[in-house]
Amino acid sequence: MTKFDAVGFGALNVDKLFSVDRIAERGGESFVTYSTESCGGSAANTIVGLARLGLKTGFIGKVADDREGNLLLQGFRSENVDTEGIAVTKTGRSGVVMGFVDQQGERTLYVDAGVNDEIDLSEIKLNHVLDTRLLHITSFAGDRSFESQVGILEKVSTQTRISFDPGMLYARKGLAALRPIVQRAFVMLPNQAELRLLTGKEYKEGAEALVDAGVKIVGVKLGEKGCYVTDGEENTLVAAARMKPLDTTGAGDAWNAGFLYGFLQGKNLEQCGMLGNFAASRCIVKMGARTGLPLESELKQL
Ligand SMILES: Nc1ncnc2c1ncn2[C@@H]1O[C@H](COP(=O)(O)OP(=O)(O)OP(=O)(O)O)[C@@H](O)[C@H]1O
Ligand SMILES: [Mg+2]
Repeated sequence: MTKFDAVGFGALNVDKLFSVDRIAERGGESFVTYSTESCGGSAANTIVGLARLGLKTGFIGKVADDREGNLLLQGFRSENVDTEGIAVTKTGRSGVVMGFVDQQGERTLYVDAGVNDEIDLSEIKLNHVLDTRLLHITSFAGDRSFESQVGILEKVSTQTRISFDPGMLYARKGLAALRPIVQRAFVMLPNQAELRLLTGKEYKEGAEALVDAGVKIVGVKLGEKGCYVTDGEENTLVAAARMKPLDTTGAGDAWNAGFLYGFLQGKNLEQCGMLGNFAASRCIVKMGARTGLPLESELKQL
């Protein structure tokens, strides 16, 4: 028995969202009308999704010993995600993403990666977190933490499955730079735009290219169209329910949680795609990335 079903490794951010009357120009001034704060980070949201679905989960990352760092740790603990693999440093700042949304809904983001970009494997309790069936990897802004992710793949047991959502940040690095992760990834979960950036191809051929690069299962998120899933032999397009989203923040992360839950339960490709779409559909009818993530008991409706 492994200690964990799934462990995440990616950036940890507090998302601070400000509604403003308008986005200020350089040297200008504008006013905040409303603000909210929530815990985020792609892998972090997915791991919380898996914890809600009843799996044993943990996380690898880094925060500073500040208000935001404590919020991030608390955000995990309240969802039963193990935090022993998260380094807490006395110096530096925890990751923060500030989003400014104007009255037309246009968003401007400022990212302060903080200590996310300074992860050294020597500060992580590896023996604790690497006892897992699945390690889920998402992006960092800086190269040092990317190198740590590559380093961890040399230490992880061959029994552990790797899942990888590159996000735009890593997709921009290109397939060649990502090869150390891609060739070890059992599952890869890009969206359509990221796959195009990585392979220069549309989603069917793009997914094929990842299979050729050694990935066993590719799940491509297609927004309102749903998803496309393939293992190189079978492939299936799973349509999403027609609905009007309230807030699509974290839709892809929720989708990953549903999909990976299915994968860990030994479901077939189509069922995994359906579970992904279902978790995402719950996420986008609520504000925020984590609010709508479903509980295991809600899957019975499927
Ligand atoms: N308008 C929509 N209607 C129905 N389902 C949707 C809609 N938008 C997103 N989804 C669901 O959410 C999933 C993930 O969305 P999307 O393809 O936008 O991922 P993403 O770009 O990785 O998202 P993120 O912005 O969170 O990274 C889709 O596969 C689909 O199931
Ligand atoms: Mg995404």
